[in-house]
Amino acid sequence: MAIRTIRTFPDPVLREKAKQVPVVDESVKQLINDMVETVKAAPGVGLAAPQIGVSLRVIVVDVPEKGIVALVNPQVIRKGGAQVCEEGCLSLPGYKAELTRCVWIRVKGMDREGNEVRLKGRDLLAQILEHEIDHLNGVLYIDRLESKDKLVPVPIPVPIEEKATSEASTS
Ligand code: NI
Repeated sequence: MAIRTIRTFPDPVLREKAKQVPVVDESVKQLINDMVETVKAAPGVGLAAPQIGVSLRVIVVDVPEKGIVALVNPQVIRKGGAQVCEEGCLSLPGYKAELTRCVWIRVKGMDREGNEVRLKGRDLLAQILEHEIDHLNGVLYIDRLESKDKLVPVPIPVPIEEKATSEASTS
């Protein structure tokens, strides 16, 4: 497993339509493992494979009481409702915006074993699923804003690391 570099806007891979995964083989399982590790480290609540430069239809999402769940070839069965959410994206660091998302969603796809699975999401999980599936179609949340003026700058957190420097106070 490895933490992979997250591609940021305007990397062209973020605009590609990702390809269907024909079979969940060892390479796809490895990709999922890397995506899980990468989203945990970010930290984030969801990640799509194009965000680590792999144009395949694979997403990972943080599901309450389950943890990070992978979905291969996710397809929206139905969705509905409208909620105004605050949203950001690991590929667009330094910004957030309010936008409208569905309130509930039903998705089907394959799990990491290649079995067909269905997943229902409400509220935040519906928002995350819609956001990550958008990534597979080359769509970013900024495309859903009426205007780029809606973007709000946010400070980018600096990693906190323990440093053993001579400047550290020992007295
Ligand atoms: Ni995103």
